[in-house]
Amino acid sequence: MNLDVRKSQIVQELETLATFSDTPAPAVTRIVFSEVDRKARAWLKNLCIEAGLHVREDAVGNTFARWAGTSPELAAVGSGSHIDAIPHSGRFDGTVGVLGALEAIRVLQRGGIRPRRSIELLLFTSEEPTRFGIGCLGSRLLSGTLDLARATALRDGDGASLDQLRAAAGFSGSLDSVALPAAYYHAFVELHIEQGPLLERAGIPVGIVTAIAAPATLKFEIEGEGGHAGAVLMPDRRDAFLAAAEIALVVEAAAKGTGAIDTVGTVGICEIFPGVVNGIPSLVRILAAVRDTDLARPAAVLAVIQRRAEDIAAARRVGLRSQVLNADAPTETATLVVDALRSSADACGLPYQTMVSRAYHDSLFMARVAPTGMLFIPCRAGVSHRPDEYAAPDDLEQGIRVLAATLNRLAN
Ligand code: HGY
Ligand code: MN
Ligand code: MN
Repeated sequence: MNLDVRKSQIVQELETLATFSDTPAPAVTRIVFSEVDRKARAWLKNLCIEAGLHVREDAVGNTFARWAGTSPELAAVGSGSHIDAIPHSGRFDGTVGVLGALEAIRVLQRGGIRPRRSIELLLFTSEEPTRFGIGCLGSRLLSGTLDLARATALRDGDGASLDQLRAAAGFSGSLDSVALPAAYYHAFVELHIEQGPLLERAGIPVGIVTAIAAPATLKFEIEGEGGHAGAVLMPDRRDAFLAAAEIALVVEAAAKGTGAIDTVGTVGICEIFPGVVNGIPSLVRILAAVRDTDLARPAAVLAVIQRRAEDIAAARRVGLRSQVLNADAPTETATLVVDALRSSADACGLPYQTMVSRAYHDSLFMARVAPTGMLFIPCRAGVSHRPDEYAAPDDLEQGIRVLAATLNRLAN
């Protein structure tokens, strides 16, 4: 089977997609439902229509582009990822899996293949947590794993609701219409850059994912006592930021404390009020993210962090409110898909290694409703979520070739 990937075309399409951004090149910022996100979606939909795919969008903007198979009544094979990008990030996170899936379909079309099962490109809405504070919003709703009342209550930083923002972006319908029917997909595969250095270090072009780490997010609100940063003497202070700083160090210690390299912890958001150089912080909000590929460990890490945070708050005489925003279970990928990926990499004559994904992806939630797997390609120095994120054309070409072969194998 001739798997002719048009390398220069896919490189050009990734570059074009990167121009839909609220920050100048090379940084990409494309927040879900923003103007640039809507323009990017429209551009992508046209590419799908040009490829003869039938396009539909659900109530939150998950977008499905289907290539009908010869037995359209059978459960389809899905493949896709996201195009939303966190502020000041790169051109390849997510987009490789969306445009790569489109190109994989075009490769099979050009090769004269007629799949028995339909093959469907899926663009997930809001994979990044940037706007609503929770990642994988679209795939959580597709897999029925997000409480609809919780989804309805979601607000962005300006207080706009999910319903308002999705309606303004042109997506209508009730949220309870998003969940996929049972057995909607026969299998689902996501192509993604590794967002780590292992493949590049090993000189291996293909990674086959065996497990996907899951995120847990802890929100802390610390209430101290504001005051003049010059006049209030140190013994009289109840500085909310210093308590937050100690809690951030506890997050690091608790993650390291499991002794397992797969446990990681980060405090990536810190809001200080009143946020002036000469005012003692009276209120601080921090968001801590803990991740692990193990099912049981994160719960213990969250418990240690919350307990130590309470001790710190008591010692510093500040108020503390903590809330677990989400604590998701990691997943293993499906043997059906892993085997198809292995056979396809072999058929393409490409070496591969199996590995875990330390970033989470929409596949983490698709795995709850379909046999799911992931395929990684290297990214330079493992860099991601930065403007210098980079995937080489040959790696793109080889990843898409394996994806095309895998979709063909699963669809027939
Ligand atoms: O944070 C993640 O793992 C993903 O890039 N949203
Ligand atoms: Mn990302
Ligand atoms: Mn991603």
